[in-house]
Amino acid sequence: MKVLVVGHGAREHALCWRLSQSPSVWGLYCTGGNPGINQIARPVPIESEDIEELRRFAIAERIDLTIVGPEAPLAIGIADEFANVGLTLFGPTREAAQLESSKVFAKAVMRAAGVPTADYAVFNDAAAAAQHVRARGGPCVVKADGLAFGKGVTVCDGSEQALVAIDDAMVKRRFGLAGEAVIVEERLSGEELSFFALCDGKDAIPLGFAQDHKAIYDGDRGPNTGGMGAYSPVPRYNEQFAARVMDEVVRPTLHAMAAKGAPFRGVLFAGLMVDGDQINVLEYNVRFGDPECEALMMRFDGDLAETLRAVAQGKAHEADFRLSPQSAVTIVLAAQGYPGDYRKGMNITGLERLEGPEPSPAKVKWALDKVRIKAFHAATAVREAMLVTDGGRVLAVTALADGLERAVAAAYEAADMVRFEGIYFRRDIGRRALASVK
Ligand code: AMP
Ligand code: GLY
Repeated sequence: MKVLVVGHGAREHALCWRLSQSPSVWGLYCTGGNPGINQIARPVPIESEDIEELRRFAIAERIDLTIVGPEAPLAIGIADEFANVGLTLFGPTREAAQLESSKVFAKAVMRAAGVPTADYAVFNDAAAAAQHVRARGGPCVVKADGLAFGKGVTVCDGSEQALVAIDDAMVKRRFGLAGEAVIVEERLSGEELSFFALCDGKDAIPLGFAQDHKAIYDGDRGPNTGGMGAYSPVPRYNEQFAARVMDEVVRPTLHAMAAKGAPFRGVLFAGLMVDGDQINVLEYNVRFGDPECEALMMRFDGDLAETLRAVAQGKAHEADFRLSPQSAVTIVLAAQGYPGDYRKGMNITGLERLEGPEPSPAKVKWALDKVRIKAFHAATAVREAMLVTDGGRVLAVTALADGLERAVAAAYEAADMVRFEGIYFRRDIGRRALASVK
C-alpha cells in the first residue's frame, strides 16, 4: 500500500522507519520530511495543517493509509475531511480529538465514563476561579482548557501561585484562546506513567507503558520540554497492570465516546498518576508521544501499516503484532539553551559511527550483544552537504537491548558518539526505574 505520514519530527521518523520495514508498504511519503526521514520516505512539500492540500495529494497519489503524528491537524479535523472522501486515516475525528484539545471535554468524558481522575471544577470567569482557589486553599493544579504547547498546566503549592496562574491564563491570555476556560483540580502525587492503546472505536489493543522525562535537567529539575528521553517497557508495571488500565481507563473511555456519538479511533495516550494501588488519569493525548513513540516503535514487531490500517477501519481484532520483550531507551540530544533560545546550524558529526554501512568496533559489539541502535532525526537539516542542527530537540538516539540496564548503557554509549557544538542531554534517563528494581 501507499502510506502518507503527517508531521516531520523524530516521532514521524520512527513511524516511517517501521513503515519502511512493513512488507505491505511499497510507497512511503512524509509531509515536510527531514534528512533522516528522506532516506526512507519521499518528502511532500505540504504543511501538516494544510488539510485541503493534503487531501488533494492523497486523492491524486491514491494514498491507501494516512497516519497523523502531531495533534494539531487532528484538532482541526483532518480525519473528518479524509473520511468525507473515503480516504483511510489513522487518527481521531475533530470531535474525538477534543480528548486532547479540550481539558474540560476530557474531564467530562472521564466523569461520565467513571474513569478515575483528580476532583475538579471548571471556570469561565477569572474572578470565580480566584474565589474558588482562595476558598479551597492548599495545593492545586490550574489548567488552561485548550492546547497550549504543554505550557498551560501549573502545579501549585498554594493559592498564591494558583492566583497567578489563573491571571496568566484568563486575564493576560498567555495561551490565547486556550485560557478562555480553566480547570482547578486536586493535586495528586505518585508516579507518572504513560499508557498507549490502539483504538478502533469499539475495541482496543494495548501498546503498553512508557515513561517520559519532561524536565530539561537531571533529577526532573528545570522547565518542562517536549520530552528529553523515554523508555519502554516500564519495570514493575506488568501485563496484569496493563489489563487494569485497559479495564479502568481505556475501555470505559471508548464506551463513553461511542455513547456520545464520537467513537475514538487512533492511538489513545493516557497520562497516568499511579499511587500504590490507585490509578488516576491526568490527561489524554490522541496521538503518539514524542519521544515515547521512538521507544515503542523500536519494540514493535509486525507490519505497522497493516496494523494501523486495520485499527483505522474498525477492525482492531485483525491486527497482528507483538512487542519485543527487550527494553528500548531514547535519549534526546538537544541544542544548548533549549527549551529557551538556542542556535541552529551547528555541524553534526559521529552519526555514521552508530549507523551506516562502515564497520566499527561499537557496531560489532552491539551486534554480539543483540543491541540495536537507531538515531531518529527530530530537527536536522542539510546545508552545504553537512548535516546540521535545525531546532531545539535535534536527535532522538534509541537503543533496544536485553533489559533496561543494558539499553540505558547502550543508548548513552551511542549518544556520546554524536557531536555538535553545545550538545546537551540528560544523563539520568531511566535511572529512577533502574533504582526501583535493584
Ligand atoms: P497534563 O498536560 O494535564 O498532563 O499536565 C502536565 C503535567 O502536570 C503532568 O505531566 C503532571 O506532571 C502535572 N499534573 C497534571 N495534573 C496534575 C495533578 N492533578 N496533580 C499533580 N500533577 C499534575
Ligand atoms: N512526550 C510527551 C508528549 O508527546 O506529549
